[in-house]
Amino acid sequence: MKKRIVLLPGDGVGQEVVQSAREVLDAIAEQFDHEFSYQACDIGGAAVDCSGTPFPAETEDACHQADAILLGAVGGPKWDQNPSHLRPEKGLLQLRKSLGLFANLRPIKGFSQLLHASPLKEEVVGGSDLLIVRELTGGLYFGTPSEISKDRESVVDTLAYQRMEIERIVEKAFQSARLRRKHLTSVDKANVLESSKLWREVVEEKKAEYPDVTVEHQLVDSAAMKLITNPTQFDVIVTENMFGDILSDEASVLTGSLGMLPSASVRTDGVGLYEPVHGSAPDIAGKGVANPIAMILSTAMMLRHSFQMDEEACAVEEAVQEVLNFGYHTADLHIKGGEQVNTKEMTRHVVEGI
Ligand code: NAI
Ligand code: MG
Repeated sequence: MKKRIVLLPGDGVGQEVVQSAREVLDAIAEQFDHEFSYQACDIGGAAVDCSGTPFPAETEDACHQADAILLGAVGGPKWDQNPSHLRPEKGLLQLRKSLGLFANLRPIKGFSQLLHASPLKEEVVGGSDLLIVRELTGGLYFGTPSEISKDRESVVDTLAYQRMEIERIVEKAFQSARLRRKHLTSVDKANVLESSKLWREVVEEKKAEYPDVTVEHQLVDSAAMKLITNPTQFDVIVTENMFGDILSDEASVLTGSLGMLPSASVRTDGVGLYEPVHGSAPDIAGKGVANPIAMILSTAMMLRHSFQMDEEACAVEEAVQEVLNFGYHTADLHIKGGEQVNTKEMTRHVVEGI
């Protein structure tokens, strides 16, 4: 298969880990006889420096023509004092919005070698393997009005959803559950919020189309508690934008390292943006020691979700698992014994595994 991939390295370690992703993709292309073409574009702080905007028109055009997009990370202290339209993060928000990427998928899986690095008890996190499906373009973060009064005595934010916006994310979650252990937990606050009542209604309606998936509703406060006391009860979680933002950061502690977590932002036609959960890691940028696994696992998600290359995605994931089994780890992974390696060496081991 021929695929056009846009690479957006961005800032800091983004540059280093996107290079790793490319090497992994080259190995997959060779092994499975595909043809991947790459176009690298600027975004974030790097784009502000070159073109005076965090999301240049050329980058936007290239992304619209791509089959999928891989992004490293954006941001860094260099741009922290910039006015809001020249902030690197603005580039990422504009990109998601411009492409209509409404579903954010964050798989969270505890690798057995890393369980001891989690602040939670090993027996609690052991075996946890869940997927958070977060609505990404609606809700509180985008509702209008959102303003503070002139006298700064009152303030309003709006939590708004259209039925269609709920339907498409819920469908994505049911489809994801079908490919996994077929259990869906819908998280809301239906005892208080009207938006959550409609959310629950839509989930109940859609349920009929997925009789093989078991459905459960949980209130967000109790879900937050269960996520760290009994995470293995979850398979797929679907929830609105802000609840998903908070729960997915909470769930990231299950794995013990930020450098291991991939994510995808997709829409119905398969086009997607794939990026590690971590940021530009300014403290280690340029040193060649970043953990490339979050980026490499994001690449596996791209193969699976945008290209329907399931076997290829599994090959990448298995290679990562194997490398950890051998004890190879970057400095951020507190694995006892084994060999500590840098970004390039870690990537080479994964490529050899493939
Ligand atoms: P961060 O994720 O960049 O770093 C947090 C800690 O984790 C640091 O100690 C870092 O060295 C470590 N870390 C992160 N990724 C790693 C990797 N691949 N390998 C080894 N260690 C890793 O978060 P922080 O420090 O809060 O933010 C730094 C910059 O990144 C900020 O400008 C922030 O706005 C931006 N950021 C960008 C995101 C994105 O592009 N999606 C997401 C989060 C933050
Ligand atoms: Mg967040």
